[in-house]
Amino acid sequence: MEKKIKRTMGIWEVRYMFESSIIIFLIIGALATTTVYYVNDSNEQETSVDVISHTPHNVNNKDVYDSLDGCDLFRGKWVHDNDSYPLYMEHQCPYIPGEFSCEEYGRTDLKYQQWRWQPHACNLPRFDAKRVLEKLRGKRVMFVGDSVNRNQWLSMVCMLQSVIPLGLKKMHKVANASLFTFKAFEYDVSIDFYWAPLLVESNADHPSKHKRSDRVINIQSIEKHAKNWLNADILVFNSYLWWGTPTLKILHGSFADSKRYNIISNHDGYKMVLEKWSNWFTTHIDHKRTQSYFMSMTATHQRGVDWGMQGTENCLNETEPVMKEDFWESGSDLKMMRILESSLDNLKSRGVNVQLVNITQLTQYRKDGHPSIHRLFYSTLKAKQLSNPKGYADCTHWCLPGVPDTWNELLLAYIIQRLN
Ligand SMILES: *[C@@H]1O[C@H](CO)[C@@H](O)[C@H](O)[C@H]1NC(C)=O
Ligand SMILES: *[C@@H]1O[C@H](CO)[C@@H](O)[C@H](O)[C@H]1NC(C)=O
Ligand SMILES: *[C@@H]1O[C@H](CO)[C@@H](O)[C@H](O)[C@H]1NC(C)=O
Ligand SMILES: *[C@@H]1O[C@H](CO)[C@@H](O)[C@H](O)[C@H]1NC(C)=O
Repeated sequence: MEKKIKRTMGIWEVRYMFESSIIIFLIIGALATTTVYYVNDSNEQETSVDVISHTPHNVNNKDVYDSLDGCDLFRGKWVHDNDSYPLYMEHQCPYIPGEFSCEEYGRTDLKYQQWRWQPHACNLPRFDAKRVLEKLRGKRVMFVGDSVNRNQWLSMVCMLQSVIPLGLKKMHKVANASLFTFKAFEYDVSIDFYWAPLLVESNADHPSKHKRSDRVINIQSIEKHAKNWLNADILVFNSYLWWGTPTLKILHGSFADSKRYNIISNHDGYKMVLEKWSNWFTTHIDHKRTQSYFMSMTATHQRGVDWGMQGTENCLNETEPVMKEDFWESGSDLKMMRILESSLDNLKSRGVNVQLVNITQLTQYRKDGHPSIHRLFYSTLKAKQLSNPKGYADCTHWCLPGVPDTWNELLLAYIIQRLN
């Protein structure tokens, strides 16, 4: 039997204890993603499993995904569509950890699961798990990044796993690496997640032991993580939330010699790390084999004033998306986005295509999509916290099923077009 994954791998501690809303605003991303504590109860090694042979179904070369060519998938609107959504039921996906199981943790308004993203210029094909698995046959997809990327990875697993019978799938942590892997044996498909919130080596690399406010990175050291990315056919990166502190320390040497460092702004740090990542990426990845993607930043609905609420309201109790076209919440750092875009442009001029999956605007609207207080909290909430639920509401992550399912539909639109 598949074990419920929350018991075996994902334990979060989120402590929203700050009195000052300004501090919360500055470091909300860091807080919300601060501690991922993996209980590694399974000392599982990566096991080799005989792949059950299977003759591919007829796969037409011409595909509905081809019709999306040239369409801007990221300009559009949310349409309520309870016929097509949700793509799966929360209780039917055994891999959703407590951080994202909003229904289990008491959320009763379920409309947030029923929205379809409608691009202005085209229609997304209806998601079909079997067809996607058939397209991905023999491939390894790897998500690399922070807890929002983990959120998306688990969404992808849930979208695909429902059509795979028990015994033909497995989820486990790979020993001695920040790597988790979901395998669909019949299709020889792996859907993996690698924890590297700042891409290069940092004091946030350990899933549980790191400081919350003090960010230290070793910019010279990307190999530590990157050597684990080499065998993927499809790489999906993100890195945004952990850059939320205004400054960070850049070490001159290794962590063993942590006395020598510079303090630089988060924007400069992000630029330097993306440059390091780009250089590594250009020389180490086989771009004929590997498709690469970067997910853009996602909204964190901390400030209700952005959508007309009073005082310190946030995403708590929000049950409907914002419908105002081009709505933009004040917590999203557009400068970070421009830095990412220019890094990807530079890569392109060197002949390396990393596709930006521009989900920023579509997340802006979805103030209703966050767990808020309907999630597992790993430290016991004190009476004072309980008396002010918005103080500990999680407005950073996303309920599953929910908004990340759409990110994956958009991602798959690119992946499948390129596999055709
Ligand atoms: C679907 O939504 C419509 C309103 O858009 C509502 O009238 C209908 O009852 C809903 N159906 C289900 C099954 O929830
Ligand atoms: C994992 O780490 C432990 C201790 O750090 C070590 O004893 C073990 O050999 C490692 N296993 C693998 C597969 O590298
Ligand atoms: C939010 O909803 C809860 C019930 O889920 C209710 O007790 C509380 O008063 C609401 N808060 C606000 C600010 O509307
Ligand atoms: C991504 O979307 C944002 C928000 O709509 C926009 O400002 C930005 O220009 C887009 N970037 C690209 C490369 O399309």
